[in-house]
Amino acid sequence: MLADPWWRDAVTYQVYVRSFADGNGDGIGDLRGIREKLGYLAELGVNAIWLNPCFPSPMADAGYDIADYREIEPSFGTLDEMDALIAGAHERGIRVLLDIVPNHCSDRHPRFQEALRAEPRSAQRSWFWFRPGRGPGGDLPPNNWQSYFGGPAWTRVTEPDGTPGQWYLHLFAPEQPDFNWENPEVRADFVKTLRFWFDRGADGFRIDSAAVLMKDPLLPDLDPDAGPCEPHPYNDRDGIHEIYQEWRAVADSYDEPRVLFGEVWIADPQRFAKYLRPQEMHAAFNFPFLRCAWDPRALRAVIDQTVVFHRPVGAPATWVLSNHDVTRHVTRYGRADTTFDFDDRGHGRPVDLELGTRRSRAAALLYLALPGGAYLYQGEELGLWEVEDIPAELRQDPMWERTDGVNPGRDGCRVPLPWSGARPPFGFSTAGDRQAEPWLPTQPVAWTEYTVQAQLDDPDSMLELYRSALALRRTEPGFGSERDPLRWMDSAEEVLSFRRGDTAACVVNLSAEPIALPPHEAVLLTSSPLTDGGLLPSDCAAWLKVG
Ligand code: GLC
Ligand code: CA
Repeated sequence: MLADPWWRDAVTYQVYVRSFADGNGDGIGDLRGIREKLGYLAELGVNAIWLNPCFPSPMADAGYDIADYREIEPSFGTLDEMDALIAGAHERGIRVLLDIVPNHCSDRHPRFQEALRAEPRSAQRSWFWFRPGRGPGGDLPPNNWQSYFGGPAWTRVTEPDGTPGQWYLHLFAPEQPDFNWENPEVRADFVKTLRFWFDRGADGFRIDSAAVLMKDPLLPDLDPDAGPCEPHPYNDRDGIHEIYQEWRAVADSYDEPRVLFGEVWIADPQRFAKYLRPQEMHAAFNFPFLRCAWDPRALRAVIDQTVVFHRPVGAPATWVLSNHDVTRHVTRYGRADTTFDFDDRGHGRPVDLELGTRRSRAAALLYLALPGGAYLYQGEELGLWEVEDIPAELRQDPMWERTDGVNPGRDGCRVPLPWSGARPPFGFSTAGDRQAEPWLPTQPVAWTEYTVQAQLDDPDSMLELYRSALALRRTEPGFGSERDPLRWMDSAEEVLSFRRGDTAACVVNLSAEPIALPPHEAVLLTSSPLTDGGLLPSDCAAWLKVG
């Protein structure tokens, strides 16, 4: 094994394929579009890209409903196109991570279709969770579990003979039946999928909903007062670990490192840490940090807890501010309540975008200075905000429909990227003028000033801030190397001030007043200009070279 595998402190750029770049002009982002933008990603300075699922899918949940795990979604491209993308990325030193969805597939998946045609209690049905209903005639769901997208987690099927039949479990949309991970055939099939993509050169996987795979086979009712988005507690027991031990062994059987990053959306850092064990997933997304308020005490606590919990298992911490499921942080940080909560997205509450942008710039320098891997969700480097005024008829997220609009869903952070030009769709297609309307035609006109073209070479732009920070992560080993611990420096309580390695330091001023910088040899980068007197303004961060 390599002493310092690349992924321990990599900056990984998350590509939401449908909305990144459209290579053939049909209004849907695709693999060719990504390949044509590899130069942009290389110049931005990222080490890896993670692609949201790009496998054949009816798109009931934007590709998280997969009908074939070993093919490419036709509207995104072909297997050859994926090979070309991986090769092109590798030529530029960029690794490629795919997104694997083990909890559920699409109801169009051949295995589920077979199960529907088969008898209750058949081998085919044992790939999923089919159960008789409760109550007279089996008219009630087998238990009280709720779907994360709203409504019951069970849907009743009509048996092949036309009678009302069993129910099947889906923790997400009805079009996403949950696999039964007690079934060894399910396990074997996923190992085949892992090998299929590793053999084609994929460098790793992000594991979707990694902490909910196992179900208590007794299917007991759950406490209805538990937070609706909490993963099922049964997964805190042992079964799930066998799965990831097997996956880790597969990943580690390759000469070049292959990695597994789990999506563990648990708010409590102690419970979160249970999913990190040696010889299982290499790392997990840091939701406690993502959800944290823009508040010095809360941030310091979550940073400390993260470092403490990762140390004994030897896993690198990960730092992440946004992804395709959460409200963009420019918007979050511009609200009175700066936390993120899946159950209450704060939609429509007053937002001060200028303040949110200022804090986002400081947050960029904070999270990129912390020891471990960093994730950057597309558009974050452009300072994009959540698009909150999407008309109901354009909304696509099942969350919106299944909660009758109570939860606006996630479309607002999935709007196609603005690349160039003065009006929508802002060069979203790389195929020139041949451009259908984007699949989600809701780019704000104000993004004219936020296109890649408008921001490149503008020293004050968010894009240049990210490019400078990522360049410094390479040249200043203190910021980049995960092995150098974080050491807090003395500071006021409302200031986060820490050293990395021998010569690097980061200071974030979360107080209301400008502050003096600690002794330093040079100011390497600041999120906003220092005051005339050389002070660091409120909601600003600085990277320093120290002696
Ligand atoms: C994860 C994904 C999300 C998806 C869900 C179901 O949370 O990030 O986008 O809807 O799993 O697959
Ligand atoms: Ca396309």
